Amino acid sequence: MKRRAAITGVQGYVPDDILSNKDLEKMVDTNDEWITSRTGIKERRILKTPGMTASDMGKIMVEGLLEKTGTHPDEVELVICATITGDLVFPDTANTICDKVGIRNAFGFDIHAACSGFLFGLNVGSKFIETGYKKVIVVGMDKMSSIIDYTDRTTCVIFGDGGGAVMLEPNEEGNGIIDAVLHGDGGGRHFLHMKAGGSALPASQETIDKRLHYVYQEGKTVFKQAVKGMVSTVQDVMSRNGLSSADLDWVVPHQANMRIITTVAEDLGVPLDKVMINIQKYGNTTSGTLPLCLWEWEDKLSKGDNLVLTAFGGGFTWGATLLKWAYNAK
Ligand code: UT7
Repeated sequence: MKRRAAITGVQGYVPDDILSNKDLEKMVDTNDEWITSRTGIKERRILKTPGMTASDMGKIMVEGLLEKTGTHPDEVELVICATITGDLVFPDTANTICDKVGIRNAFGFDIHAACSGFLFGLNVGSKFIETGYKKVIVVGMDKMSSIIDYTDRTTCVIFGDGGGAVMLEPNEEGNGIIDAVLHGDGGGRHFLHMKAGGSALPASQETIDKRLHYVYQEGKTVFKQAVKGMVSTVQDVMSRNGLSSADLDWVVPHQANMRIITTVAEDLGVPLDKVMINIQKYGNTTSGTLPLCLWEWEDKLSKGDNLVLTAFGGGFTWGATLLKWAYNAK
């Protein structure tokens, strides 16, 4: 049987501090009714602990994952961290996580693909497993509160902090990652980006005064492309593997907007009770949404379940991954 990369454990983390819609009503001109009906979000988590960084969230996720899977840090060979809010522009946060956890025999790097980051990281990690690696960790998390303008009501109601990590190991029983359809279109960069802080516009007094170090989004355009991109890639990956929506046990969609999730499910013909949804509690954690869903649903998943993970985000980047779940939670 072909050697596949299977997820053998998942560990999520969200900070304790809750930012509710009622809290946001006091900060910007918005209201619970608008946020709930337009996005499905009721609250999100914010990392407020002074000095605590994205890599500290990653450390908690990875330490929990090692404990859960009975893995010694020396056994880990590769750590991929999907994030757009790493501790520093360089070096990569994956390396900082390894240092903080005490992973000494691995190399690590970050994937900077916004909301599709975890999906892309999962597929890159799976290729290393397929070609001989035995233990690869993929982290997907973001500290979005560090790049959100809490005076901009069009973005500050959407995003939150958190994410999760998964362990990938070889599987020769037919379970694991089966296939993926991944896409990118740089033309989409104009609709979702951060204007300053990169080499195009390094930080200056002017970029700070103009509030250019925050997420900029043209929501309507992104919304339409997100639905289209997620539906088409899920359909593509299913049809080239001879599956129909009736064969799916779970759809794991990026949590950007409840209306996007329900439209995608409807277009795919999948009932909502087969769709993982936790956007109401955490909002959009960017690279964190997919592992956070897997973590929350882990106990409900059974060995052999067909899952499709799908995401859309800044870049534009998007795609879908088909996998067979490899274990029953203890
Ligand atoms: O994860 C990465 C990918 N991102 C996404 O997939 C996000 C996709 N986009 C969206 O989820 C939605 O477009 C948003 C949630 C961002 C916005 O929802 P919308 O239904 O597209 O609203 P809109 O931008 O068309 O705005 C409608 C109205 C506007 O007022 P006018 O011009 O009609 O008077 C906005 O100014 O709603 C207003 N508005 C708000 N009102 C109260 C925008 N934000 C708010 C707010 N509270 N927070």
